[in-house]
Amino acid sequence: MSPFRLTRTLPEDATDAALRSDVRTGLTGTPKWLPPKWFYDARGSELFERITTLPEYYPTRAEREILVGRAGEIAAATGARTLVELGSGSSEKTRFLLDALTGLRVYVPVDVSESALTGAGRALAAERPGLSVHALIADFTAALELPDTPGPRLLAFLGGTIGNLLPGERAAFLASVRALLAPGDALLLGTDLVKDEEVLVRAYDDAAGVTAAFDKNVLAVVNRELDADFVPDAFDHVALWDAGKEWIEMRLRSRTAQTVKVKALDLAVEFAAGEELRTEVSAKFRKEGVRGELAAAGLDLAHWWTDREGRFALSLSVVR
Ligand code: SAH
Ligand code: TRP
Repeated sequence: MSPFRLTRTLPEDATDAALRSDVRTGLTGTPKWLPPKWFYDARGSELFERITTLPEYYPTRAEREILVGRAGEIAAATGARTLVELGSGSSEKTRFLLDALTGLRVYVPVDVSESALTGAGRALAAERPGLSVHALIADFTAALELPDTPGPRLLAFLGGTIGNLLPGERAAFLASVRALLAPGDALLLGTDLVKDEEVLVRAYDDAAGVTAAFDKNVLAVVNRELDADFVPDAFDHVALWDAGKEWIEMRLRSRTAQTVKVKALDLAVEFAAGEELRTEVSAKFRKEGVRGELAAAGLDLAHWWTDREGRFALSLSVVR
């Protein structure tokens, strides 16, 4: 059993203040929206894990295929002694990197979901003698302070989660990531790729309704944390492909005209019948777009690997 440490960089009252402010801004805006990080309470993290096993949700399998095939090359190119992973969730695919990175000393999973971090972090520390696990409860869109661990560092951001940020947020995020890296450090980035609309829409609107339950979970979070009275089943889950922006957009569509009360904010929110609340985007990428976004943040695309079917890509940038 090697050491497992959990650090909370987000005080609970700051999380609460951020949720209040996001919900007030989002539900009083036009169109209405809620930011995606609030999906991931314990139930949200569990529902996301179920999404990753759905037949329609190919990104997890495609990214796993790339990691299985390329982990050795990633290890050789980086020689990482610290692996930092943003939005690590269950750390399930990360195991292939951990196996390949023979000089690795410390794994730093970073997530807003405490339940995901403790579950995955404890299991890894228990299984892997010699690996210190220093989990961080933190928001990767805010200023990150990483623990002082041995370099070179490999910073991994998998799952296509970068696509859940809007273009301006992505640019700010990549610049802040670049600022965390020293010469010899590297960024491993997972991006889902533009493909056939039907395949994309099905991945975000599965037949078993797991994605719909996940999308509606954000309403349950607002109910619990801010004493609201959303009836999740009074909304329908909608997934749309925006061909201009090249992203999937998730929305919750009000089935009827209704008023929702958010007691902790002293707010009454009117929904017209058919009115939509935007919950998430999931941008899809092309190689030249990824290269350009990395370059704008001062990062070179050194390697680009896809799965055999060309559905998903991993790119590696090494800082010089
Ligand atoms: N990397 C995993 C999980 C992807 S789901 C995979 O590839 O399967 C996205 C993960 O990012 C979730 O675990 C969620 O809790 C986390 N997350 C979402 N927004 C975040 C934020 N702003 N800061 C930190 N973690 C976040
Ligand atoms: N990063 C994942 C993605 O964009 C997150 C995700 C998968 C998701 N399915 C979802 C987010 C459904 C909201 C709703 O693929």
